[in-house]
Amino acid sequence: MTQLFHLLLYFAALAIVPGCCDRVNKTFTNPVLPGWNSDPSCVFVKELDNTFFCTTSTFLVFPGVPLYASKDLQNWKLVSHALNRQEQLPELSSRSGSQMEGIWASTIRYHEGKLHIITAYISYSASWAPKILLFSTTDPYNDTAWSDPVRVENPSNDIDPDLFFDDDGKVYMAVAGGIWISEIDITTGAASEPFQVWNGTGERNPEGPHLMKKDGYYYLWIGEGGTETNHTVTIARSTDIHGPYEGYPGNPLLTAKNTDEYFQTVGHADFFQDDDGNWWGAALSTRSGPEWEIYPMGRETVLFPMTWALGNWPTAETVRGNMTGPLPPLNKDVPTEGPFWDDADVVDFAPGSSIPKNFVFWRPPKSNLFAISPPDRPNTLQINPSRTNLSTDASFDPAIDGLGFVARKQTSSLFKFSVDLDFSPTVENEEAGISVFLTEVQHIDLGIILLSNASGSLELSLRFRVEASGKPNTTVPEESIILIPDDWSVGAIRLSVYTCDDGTYVFSASSTSDEDDSKVLGSASAAIVSGGSGPFTGTIIGAYATRNGGNGSTPAYFSRWRYDPVAQEIAAGEFV
Ligand SMILES: *[C@@H]1O[C@H](CO)[C@@H](O)[C@H](O)[C@H]1NC(C)=O
Ligand SMILES: *[C@@H]1O[C@H](CO)[C@@H](O)[C@H](O)[C@H]1NC(C)=O
Ligand SMILES: *[C@@H]1O[C@H](CO)[C@@H](O)[C@H](O)[C@H]1NC(C)=O
Ligand SMILES: *[C@@H]1O[C@H](CO)[C@@H](O)[C@H](O)[C@H]1NC(C)=O
Ligand SMILES: *[C@@H]1O[C@H](CO)[C@@H](O)[C@H](O)[C@H]1NC(C)=O
Ligand SMILES: *[C@@H]1O[C@H](CO)[C@@H](O)[C@H](O)[C@H]1NC(C)=O
Ligand SMILES: *[C@@H]1O[C@H](CO)[C@@H](O)[C@H](O)[C@H]1NC(C)=O
Ligand SMILES: *[C@@H]1O[C@H](CO)[C@@H](O)[C@H](O)[C@H]1NC(C)=O
Ligand SMILES: *[C@@H]1O[C@H](CO)[C@@H](O)[C@H](O)[C@H]1NC(C)=O
Repeated sequence: MTQLFHLLLYFAALAIVPGCCDRVNKTFTNPVLPGWNSDPSCVFVKELDNTFFCTTSTFLVFPGVPLYASKDLQNWKLVSHALNRQEQLPELSSRSGSQMEGIWASTIRYHEGKLHIITAYISYSASWAPKILLFSTTDPYNDTAWSDPVRVENPSNDIDPDLFFDDDGKVYMAVAGGIWISEIDITTGAASEPFQVWNGTGERNPEGPHLMKKDGYYYLWIGEGGTETNHTVTIARSTDIHGPYEGYPGNPLLTAKNTDEYFQTVGHADFFQDDDGNWWGAALSTRSGPEWEIYPMGRETVLFPMTWALGNWPTAETVRGNMTGPLPPLNKDVPTEGPFWDDADVVDFAPGSSIPKNFVFWRPPKSNLFAISPPDRPNTLQINPSRTNLSTDASFDPAIDGLGFVARKQTSSLFKFSVDLDFSPTVENEEAGISVFLTEVQHIDLGIILLSNASGSLELSLRFRVEASGKPNTTVPEESIILIPDDWSVGAIRLSVYTCDDGTYVFSASSTSDEDDSKVLGSASAAIVSGGSGPFTGTIIGAYATRNGGNGSTPAYFSRWRYDPVAQEIAAGEFV
């Protein structure tokens, strides 16, 4: 009986997808969304011009809940953010001190003309009470078209919401924690009493669930083992959504646990099928090798081909830097202006322009701290100093103080970042500069600062300084301070940071007229910005201005912002 049923389905499938899976294999490299892009959820939408869409977790950065779009699975463009208005989530401007709070993992699905992203906001300020948010849009290429979130009840009080539209019209939300499912109403946010369906294979942290109906089965796949080196993808199925669910005898379906792979922590996957009928998976992975000590970009998004024959369990290819699979033809025809995700930044802050889409703030910005091309300073980004520096302090309130800091993700193992800074501080401890930043308690800064010397005179100095209190027992380089050479005093100063290998940042400064006459102020290990207080996020690199608690108010003017992605490491010691 079951076999006959499968046979019928098989012929039905043949009729629906003529010429399925005709594509020839091509090579591609991982990660496909380099830089911190954790917990990917992806979907293929035929109705939106055969486009793949993915979203990843954003924790405290704003704008949040990004939407990446691609036609060929290789060229991805950041096209909008579901969370782009402070009013959509005022809570993101509050602070408990934990650097791990904010927007956690999401699920993206398409249904009847709308893209939906369901996600959870976590705060450590009170009891454990993740808030579930559901954003929707009919125009994925327009920030303002994203709805205010529907706040969905969370009867299981857990994270990683999934969104599943069943073929009988019912909508289900699965969440982590020994997987629980509720039926939900996406308009009102009401959720039914949850039922528990699967505890996974017995590893810790069964989480990141996704549900799909295929060949008469409800398939449920999850992450297990924790999002570190024991991370796995496991799968189960049932003919009834309520269960019982039968685990795949070959679990884990995918993992890098107990391997020497350069791509570690593989897990938290999502699966989708392209227009040719091929199956694909996206997962998070950390480029660290089994040592798992240096991984400043944190958890990135990788792509892997799958097979999933009718009525069978799926298979997934091992995640590596070099991959082979039946990719769609190259196609960079993705709507919206602007660069692809792994392009360079060439940003001159022209009059009338806005902050580039790939720039992020640490929590929603205070708008009075930033201006592009103010009337008397065309082609600059003005940052007014925030009261505290990037380390903040106990009385720091994001809603009142804000942070004078804007950044972009580190998206390549090797890179060069530089920006020109025109800054004329007049009050002691006024400072502006560049930072490689993981959290408020793990960042590496090079700034221009007005310091008072032993005889009480104020001197314009360059200071290299590391904050590493969020990562105890790390070797922290000495602070270094030099006076700004007299012959640099005309115009802006160029501040740069580059990686000379995959584990060391080098900070230097020069006059803008003679970059060859640059002074190296210091270097720091990328271990300082790996893990610690920011185990779920990755480094961002950008520009800041602060009065360091003092009375200053001198604005800093940044221009000629450049990020050059020099190379990706795709296997230990191998760069492309
Ligand atoms: C973007 O969406 C908003 C809100 O729906 C709408 O008012 C605006 O016209 C849209 N912009 C474009 C370019 O479509
Ligand atoms: C999951 O584990 C809990 C605690 O051991 C148990 O009560 C529950 O029945 C299990 N659920 C399923 C679906 O196996
Ligand atoms: C991975 O699992 C092993 C065996 O259970 C355990 O000893 C180790 O601490 C785990 N590692 C992490 C990072 O959780
Ligand atoms: C990756 O592919 C390139 C180009 O084909 C090849 O030179 C290199 O050896 C491969 N690296 C690994 C680790 O397989
Ligand atoms: C194409 O690549 C897939 C995934 O890597 C592999 O399973 C399959 O054997 C390859 N097909 C051919 C014809 O090489
Ligand atoms: C402090 O700075 C002033 C002005 O640059 C200089 O004349 C003086 O020698 C400096 N004193 C010390 C102790 O460095
Ligand atoms: C740091 O080192 C001290 C002394 O060796 C040890 O007691 C402590 O647990 C370490 N802390 C961390 C976070 O590793
Ligand atoms: C940040 O500013 C505080 C004073 O507000 C100061 O104590 C601290 O050393 C500064 N930290 C850094 C990394 O500059
Ligand atoms: C700021 O100015 C006030 C009033 O002039 C003064 O009392 C205070 O000491 C100044 N603070 C600093 C850090 O210089």
